[in-house]
Amino acid sequence: MQPASTDTRPIGVFDSGVGGLTVLAALRAALPQERFVYLGDTARLPYGTKSAGTVRRYAVQAARVLVERDVKALVVACNTASAVALDALEAAWPELPVFGVVGPGAIAAAHVARSRVVVLATESTISGGAYQRALLALRPTLTVEGRACPLFVTLAEEGRRDGAVVAAVVADYLQAFVVPEHSDASADAVTLLLGCTHFPILRAAIEAFFSRHARTVQVVDSAATTARAVQAARDAGRFAPAPGDAGGPRLVLCATDGADRFRRVGRFFLGDAIEDVELVDL
Ligand code: DGL
Repeated sequence: MQPASTDTRPIGVFDSGVGGLTVLAALRAALPQERFVYLGDTARLPYGTKSAGTVRRYAVQAARVLVERDVKALVVACNTASAVALDALEAAWPELPVFGVVGPGAIAAAHVARSRVVVLATESTISGGAYQRALLALRPTLTVEGRACPLFVTLAEEGRRDGAVVAAVVADYLQAFVVPEHSDASADAVTLLLGCTHFPILRAAIEAFFSRHARTVQVVDSAATTARAVQAARDAGRFAPAPGDAGGPRLVLCATDGADRFRRVGRFFLGDAIEDVELVDL
């Protein structure tokens, strides 16, 4: 059911840094007529090594900046914040539709997995267990394991997608999931759920590692499924669509530090050149 009215206000998206631009890219593809304002809390990245209480506080502060810019919906692109802060955000702004990436990511993996899912994410996301719980709620018979890969964040932040250092880190983290040669084929099939904004840009290196070991791997991330969830919510009337001729800038990008770095590294994640980045204070 389409809502009767339209709403020119932007959709707010936030992440701890540039990684959430992968989710923004999927949102722009799924909802081309919408306007977006994105905030990367680059001054305080990483969130993934911090306590749940600190991440919740940071998430509420970041969301407040977007709420003050009058967003009509909020997408928490950061997996770490999605895992621990959605309830705090919903409590702070009960009228605002809030979307996280953990639920959609779990749906994407549960849909394609044969029997075994390995969640790759930050320390905080893995230790909190949100993905593991979401996957088992969807398919209780799955075998679900978690692997914290904090160095992937550092590599991705440096714009490193391939080369010897990337290959060595990928091997170090993922060697344990390469099943020995003599095991049966069905046990080999592993679904890797990229439960961190930064990991999609390392996808090719991860797939190359598994293919060198002749093992079947499916790699799933939450960006496209999250975009579809937001689109479905809009189509169901949780917030109104933009009219075709909505005025104002299509995309506003903000960061809490390092506008030049954001432009330079962010283009790998957005898949598009970045012109202006506004610096904001939380
Ligand atoms: N955005 C974070 C996530 O998706 C990764 C970077 C960080 O640790 O802040 O979990």
